[in-house]
Amino acid sequence: MSNGPKNPVGDTSWFVRDRFGLFIHWGIYALPARHEWVKSQEKIRDEDYQKYFDHFCPDLYDPRVWAQEAKNAGMKYFVVTSKHHDGFCLWDSALTDYKATKTPWGKDLLHPMTEAFRAEGLKVGFYHSLIDWHHPEFPVDGLHPMRDDEAFREAQKNRDIRKYAGYLHGQARELLTQFGKLDIMWFDYSYSDRDWGWAKGKGKADWQSEKLLTMVRDLQPGIIVNDRLEIGGDIKTPEQYQPKSGLTVDGKPVVWEACQTLSGSWGYHRDESSWKSTEMLIRMLIDTVSKDGNLLLNVGPNARGEMDSRALERLRGMGAWMRLHSRSIYGCGASDFTPPPDCRFTQNGNRLYLHLFAWPFKHVHLEGLAGQVEYAQLLNDASEVKTSVVDPHQQAQNTTMGGQAGTLTLELPILKPAVAVPVIELFLKA
Ligand code: GLC
Repeated sequence: MSNGPKNPVGDTSWFVRDRFGLFIHWGIYALPARHEWVKSQEKIRDEDYQKYFDHFCPDLYDPRVWAQEAKNAGMKYFVVTSKHHDGFCLWDSALTDYKATKTPWGKDLLHPMTEAFRAEGLKVGFYHSLIDWHHPEFPVDGLHPMRDDEAFREAQKNRDIRKYAGYLHGQARELLTQFGKLDIMWFDYSYSDRDWGWAKGKGKADWQSEKLLTMVRDLQPGIIVNDRLEIGGDIKTPEQYQPKSGLTVDGKPVVWEACQTLSGSWGYHRDESSWKSTEMLIRMLIDTVSKDGNLLLNVGPNARGEMDSRALERLRGMGAWMRLHSRSIYGCGASDFTPPPDCRFTQNGNRLYLHLFAWPFKHVHLEGLAGQVEYAQLLNDASEVKTSVVDPHQQAQNTTMGGQAGTLTLELPILKPAVAVPVIELFLKA
């Protein structure tokens, strides 16, 4: 590329240490409260979606409370939807009237939020939708709410994606220049592989991704950009699944971040009930870090501006675990040692962390660790865990176990410590 960005890559050094972030999906879809895609899923026309705009007034909104909850949960950064696919903007963009300042609320939501999170020491990211179901130049396609209205499609067939791209770039410039230092820009998403016959999906040519990325990197040197512009990026973003192992490109490990919901929706969904348990969420965080990834965990606040009790219960539960165990998360990554069944290892230098997803009776056997461990303790209370190496030649007898070459055996208390996932901290010999 001849006139590529002056700053070709983002700085992920903090990101791979911090490991845990908060995703926030918030917009006027919180009013219907049945998924952030409601406009598309229910094929709602602009004039019928307008009632949510006209009644948006989050009177309990206090981003300082959100920031404290995130910090207490152990999160180190946050990414918020500046605009989602419905086109509604949380800040006072000069390029549209479809924004928070024109609703009954009447105020910008994004500046107070970035300030509140920065004040708690969290890094700041914006999720910005590439898709826009409100913009008059965004061509109707198979995802668009008006996809089945043939008269509308015909009347709107001259929509010009280049004009929309101008708007997209202009708004990105606003976000990148009006909110101080940004740490992450999270664009969503490209779907040029889709083809409905009468319309095709959209991707890098439509967004003018190269030009957009160059601008982003020039305006915010070091900013991390995700991979959904269809031209690569600094981080890969698996969504709604836990990868089997760390992500690679051409066989080389890459920086990645799993994004996950608390229940089955990103935006506030009143009646959705598949909420993950706190323990499952903690296991997901551990599993992610054990594979060298980050977890971006989503909350969809409601239309009064609050995180609801189901979300708070989970964030606080994670915070309680993180208060005692963050040492096995921050600064940690994959280990070369293979964990026993139902366990995950994370490692930070000579500290190896054994996470026990199931609590076994009395012993856990660590292959390959005989002679390697100087000291072992439960992380939650720093109580000693005795270790031994059974003579490999010893035959199993009535009350003595058989030996195995290279295996270190830990002696556990019968009672599982009163934490969601117990962790044993192993100090490796230098
Ligand atoms: C998807 C969805 C979306 C959500 C996002 C989060 O691409 O379109 O609603 O914002 O994933 O990763």
